[in-house]
Amino acid sequence: MKAIQTRPHRGLDGLTLVDLPDPGEPGPDAIRVRVHATSLNFHDLGVVTGRLPAVDRRIPMADGAGVVEAVGSEVTEFKPGDHVVSTFFPTWLDGEATLAGFATTPGDGIDGFAREVVVAPATSFTRAPAGWSHAAAATLTTAGVTAWRALVVNGGLKVGDSVLVLGTGGVSIFALQIARAMGATVIATSSSDQKLERLRAMGAAHVINYRQDENWGDRVRDLTGGAGVDHVVEVGGPGTLAQSIKAARVGGHISLIGVLTGMAGDVPTAILMARQQRLQGLIVGSRRHQLDLIRGIDAVHGHPVIDRSFPLAELADAFRLQESGGHFGKIVVEY
Ligand SMILES: NC(=O)c1ccc[n+]([C@@H]2O[C@H](COP(=O)([O-])OP(=O)(O)OC[C@H]3O[C@@H](n4cnc5c(N)ncnc54)[C@H](OP(=O)(O)O)[C@@H]3O)[C@@H](O)[C@H]2O)c1
Repeated sequence: MKAIQTRPHRGLDGLTLVDLPDPGEPGPDAIRVRVHATSLNFHDLGVVTGRLPAVDRRIPMADGAGVVEAVGSEVTEFKPGDHVVSTFFPTWLDGEATLAGFATTPGDGIDGFAREVVVAPATSFTRAPAGWSHAAAATLTTAGVTAWRALVVNGGLKVGDSVLVLGTGGVSIFALQIARAMGATVIATSSSDQKLERLRAMGAAHVINYRQDENWGDRVRDLTGGAGVDHVVEVGGPGTLAQSIKAARVGGHISLIGVLTGMAGDVPTAILMARQQRLQGLIVGSRRHQLDLIRGIDAVHGHPVIDRSFPLAELADAFRLQESGGHFGKIVVEY
């Protein structure tokens, strides 16, 4: 079978198309999946460029969607022909988070989905949303579940709430869609006026160019009558957190998700304390969170925003597009 492997010391040029032995038939609790799509995440970019530590010749990509080809003797949840999508933490099925880090995550601690066939425990997949393409389903594993957990699981989002999303990457666009579908008001930021227009068209009530308005936290407060928003989906990290704290209301919820501006920095702790805000870190979510998200998607007939699709052999070019920040929503790879 065809697969892509990393050579992290060579960066994106090191992504190498290889032929690997077929993984064979599944054991009693496993399924064999013909993978047809993956989607790109900032985390995957870190692995393939060597910015995150991962072994040499790792098969990258945390997200995978495809068709079940065979099931083990004890598998009752799936049958051949079912459309499935992988989970970010194959062993975190339900309940509170117990894992820290990426030792069990496909494409990082274990081999991922940049390959044609995977044999893995059935519980490391869920069904895909009804009627979705494999490319669409592959956007859920990381970005979709993260946005869902931030707003719905941890944030307790309800109709009438206000949500701030930062930039127009995969997580933020999912967060906008979930917030709108659940009756929340959205304020969205971007570095591009063209993208701001697209955000408006998707239902953002207010948009802010964060390059032109460096004090966007104050602007969000103004737009909410001085109160601030109920939820911030914080994908920027140290370079944006101070503004996000300004933008959130007293008692508001800030979901600390991203590292787009770096891995460490100063936090204005006194303001966070004085405004009695809840700052919660998270990494994606459980299999249960993914199943709940998919149930919601089926109910509202939602659909992800896919910017562009690449063939597997052009995975490096797909990552170059992501690195450039030129995309809006998700970049996918289909095979
Ligand atoms: N903790 C978790 O579970 C988890 C899960 C998924 C992702 N993440 C993290 O979340 C972040 C976003 O991931 P992603 O996959 O959605 O990335 P992505 O699709 O690559 O998002 C890139 C976009 O982020 C925006 N951006 C960049 N710098 C920004 C800044 N200073 N302020 C506001 N927006 C900025 C830009 O939007 P514009 O072009 O519109 O300016 C850019 O196009 C990453 O740090 C990733 O590691 C964490």
